[in-house]
Amino acid sequence: MIEKALECFKEKFGDEGDIRCYFAPGRVNLIGEHTDYNGGHVFPCALSMGNYGVARKRDDRILRWFNMTWPDEGVQEISLDDLKPNDNGMWYDYQQGVIWAMLKAGIDIPGGYDMVMIADLPAGSGLSASASIEELAAVIVKDLYDLPISMIDCAKFGQVSENEYNGSNSGIMDQFASAMGKKDHAIFLDTADLSYEYVPLNLTNEKIVITNSKVKHNLTENSYNSYNQRRKESEEALADLQRIMDINSLGELDEEEFDKQCEYIKSDVCRKRAKHAVYENQRTIKAVKALQSGDLEAFGKLMNEAHISMSEDYGASCEEVDILAEEAWKLPGVIGSRITGGGFGGCTVSIVKNEYVDNFTSTLGSVYKERTGIDAEFYIADAGDGARRLK
Ligand code: GLA
Repeated sequence: MIEKALECFKEKFGDEGDIRCYFAPGRVNLIGEHTDYNGGHVFPCALSMGNYGVARKRDDRILRWFNMTWPDEGVQEISLDDLKPNDNGMWYDYQQGVIWAMLKAGIDIPGGYDMVMIADLPAGSGLSASASIEELAAVIVKDLYDLPISMIDCAKFGQVSENEYNGSNSGIMDQFASAMGKKDHAIFLDTADLSYEYVPLNLTNEKIVITNSKVKHNLTENSYNSYNQRRKESEEALADLQRIMDINSLGELDEEEFDKQCEYIKSDVCRKRAKHAVYENQRTIKAVKALQSGDLEAFGKLMNEAHISMSEDYGASCEEVDILAEEAWKLPGVIGSRITGGGFGGCTVSIVKNEYVDNFTSTLGSVYKERTGIDAEFYIADAGDGARRLK
């Protein structure tokens, strides 16, 4: 991948000077969905798939970028002084937003850069292609100009890009996973204070299989709106509860406290959303404990429950993805299967015993095709390191 990008860079921008190579991964979330903006826990891992970039400093303030995945868009060019929030949601807007966020925070970025990028991660499938693009921009500008910022800062700037530059009110999970991933580990992140722990994924007898429903989740206005709508509903539920309890987020509640007080949430819909947020957070804590104690069966069961909750209480699945999960549950060797990411389409994540992986992909692929007419795609997830310069 990177060789192709390097070749393309030389062709577009010349081969002189200090040309550097970078990578920023996508992520798959194992459990803990829509908890990150509710003060709860998430459990994602960075993937070995993502966005590659080749870049070189410029001595003026111009940014010139070319994306080999969208060659028809040509070289995008803008000055550091002209960055402006918009709601176009193009690949370069996510990167512009990161740089804009850094400038807004008072970070001195002395110049621009030329860059060519290429991806091996499907966009709009719930594997955080946009966070991967954001963290690619962050790590490039941090490294080229030796900026005094940490990778956690890079994750935060990525979230600002989403929230303030690109109009999606997402949490920090995706950017955190892309920036901070660690090979063969998942990240148990408490989004209330950003404390985190790397948990080894000692899966010798199983594989993490991602199934892409090919139903695109964030390319339409509609799903952005649905995501932001879910967030609003969660906030409304929290506001109702805050009238009678002293809490800052739904993540502070356990199931029992929630059940006791949930009648104070006025709207039925908001009560269901809040129930998901509270139960999902507790499920995530339990799931990580189960994994750490070697109880993969319990982990898988919690994944299945998480799917049902995401579909029924949070209303963030869709028919096709429900089919993928429900059909997966029937197959031999499947420890657990659930929707992953923001939802409204996208992918499922499943843990499957090694010897059943072939049967899983062929059977699920054909049943899905039969029921929906769509050819699903399968990827074996390989937990990788976070955004970085490549040597
Ligand atoms: C998207 C958002 C994340 C998170 C997930 C749902 O991926 O970017 O912040 O909210 O949805 O868990």
